[in-house]
Amino acid sequence: MRLWGDIILEHLHATPFPIAILTPARIESLINLHWRFLRGPLKQVSALYPGSFDPPTNGHLDLIERGAKIFEELVVGILKNSEKIPMFSLTERLEMLKTLTAHLRNVRIEAFHGLMVEYAKSINATCVLRGIRAVSDYEYELQMALMNRKLEPTLETVFMMPADKYSYVSSRLVREVAQIGGPVKGLVPEFVEQKLREKLEPAYRFHDEMQETAARKPSRRERKRKP
Ligand code: PNS
Repeated sequence: MRLWGDIILEHLHATPFPIAILTPARIESLINLHWRFLRGPLKQVSALYPGSFDPPTNGHLDLIERGAKIFEELVVGILKNSEKIPMFSLTERLEMLKTLTAHLRNVRIEAFHGLMVEYAKSINATCVLRGIRAVSDYEYELQMALMNRKLEPTLETVFMMPADKYSYVSSRLVREVAQIGGPVKGLVPEFVEQKLREKLEPAYRFHDEMQETAARKPSRRERKRKP
């Protein structure tokens, strides 16, 4: 937190002349001083980024990195949902996200269950971070943000956009592609890609074998050319 002493010292640095001479720089500095007085000290915001992260994608990671730059602390909260059977267990998702965010010192990975707003309160988060990829996300996100505001009016939702190259990436589509043994390179971090391959080993083996067979099979033209 910035103290008044710091602000006044900063003001004096900007004003090398005696205080009575009103230079343009000094006037601007005084206006700034007044504005800061009215605004009060800037808040250090702790935010919660909730989600299922089943599995974490490059889009999630992109958003976490962006959030870590603007929030004092960012807690990534993985929902423990007893109604859905996830592809990755809670422990696996916790482990993956911890590994992927190990380089971000103000990011913490946790699991939660129940109402998100209650969990946010319990960790002193005053803000919820959510990603919006395309217009199609907006309706659902708006509904959720307004419902959360109804449940807890002091909690603000902040939306951020991931890099446009991830605008079509979702955990659901990644799961769908991977379950058929399709390539997910570039959509998820390499570490997650490896975990998907381990989990869906038979699907990947079958897909790879089919690809190899197709590559070995001579084309109709090649078959015709044979004596
Ligand atoms: O990654 P997802 O599935 O889009 O995340 C959805 C999530 C976990 C943010 C949302 O379902 C949620 O907050 N669930 C917790 C229960 C809750 O508070 N429900 C009311 C939401 S309006």
